[in-house]
Amino acid sequence: MTMELEASSRHYWDRTWSRFLRHQGMIAPSSKLVQQMIPHLQRHARVLDLGCGEGRNTIYLSRVGFHGVGLDLSRKAVKMLANNLFEEEVRGQGMVGDARCLPFRTATFDGVLAHHLLDHLDGQGFAAAMAEVGRVLKPRGVLLLTMGNFVHLRDGREVTCRDDGSIVFTSGPNKGMLVRPYQDAALSDLGRQGWQVLKDELTPRGSKIMLLRRLEAAGTDVARS
Ligand SMILES: C[S@@+](CC[C@H](N)C(=O)[O-])C[C@H]1O[C@@H](n2cnc3c(N)ncnc32)[C@H](O)[C@@H]1O
Repeated sequence: MTMELEASSRHYWDRTWSRFLRHQGMIAPSSKLVQQMIPHLQRHARVLDLGCGEGRNTIYLSRVGFHGVGLDLSRKAVKMLANNLFEEEVRGQGMVGDARCLPFRTATFDGVLAHHLLDHLDGQGFAAAMAEVGRVLKPRGVLLLTMGNFVHLRDGREVTCRDDGSIVFTSGPNKGMLVRPYQDAALSDLGRQGWQVLKDELTPRGSKIMLLRRLEAAGTDVARS
C-alpha cells in the first residue's frame, strides 16, 4: 500500500468511528458467528479480535469466558472499546495496532477472529496479516475469518480498481475506504499453507466464512496471495 493510500485508509476509519460514536451506541455482537469458534477453545483461552472496531465482539468473547483482546488501526475505535469495556464491566483489552505487523509474541493466542478485517486490506496486506495471524496463533489454534464480495458496492460509484483486485473509493461517504473482495484462489490455497479448513461457507449475502486451524509450528511461511 502506498503511504498516501495508507493515510487515507486510516483517516477513513477514524472518521467512520468518530461519526459512529456521535450517532449510535454499540451494535449487537455477531454472537452466532463467534459461537462457531467456541467448541474449539478452552475456557479462559486468549482470543484476538483483529480489526475489532468498537469491540462488540471483543466484549462478547470476554463475556462468554475467554480473555478477549481487541486490536484496531483506528485510535477512535480503540478508545470506544476501552469505554465499552469499562461500562460493561468486563475484563478484556484494547490496543491500537496494525494487523500486518502485530505487537505480540509468537504463539500468544488460542484463537483469532477476523470479522470483515481481511477484506479491507490490499493483496500484500492480506498476505502479511495472514502470516502474522499464523505467527501469533499457538499451533492448533483457530482462526475464524469473514470476507465480503462487495457486489453491492460495485455499481459505478467513483472507485479506483487496483491490479491486486482491491477497490478504493475516491468520493462519497466511503471516500478513502479500501475493500478487496475475497478471492477463491487465495482462500483455497490456505489449505496447502499450514491451515486445516474446518469450515468453509457462504452467507446468504455472499460473504465468506472460514474456520481454520493452524497446523504447523508458528512462524512458518503462510499464505501469499
Ligand atoms: C468493517 S470494520 C469491522 C469491525 C469489527 N470487526 C466488527 O465486526 O464490528 C473493519 C475494521 O478494521 C480496521 N482495520 C482496517 N485496517 C486495519 C489494519 N491494517 N489493522 C488493524 N485494523 C484495521 C478498521 O479500523 C475497522 O475498525
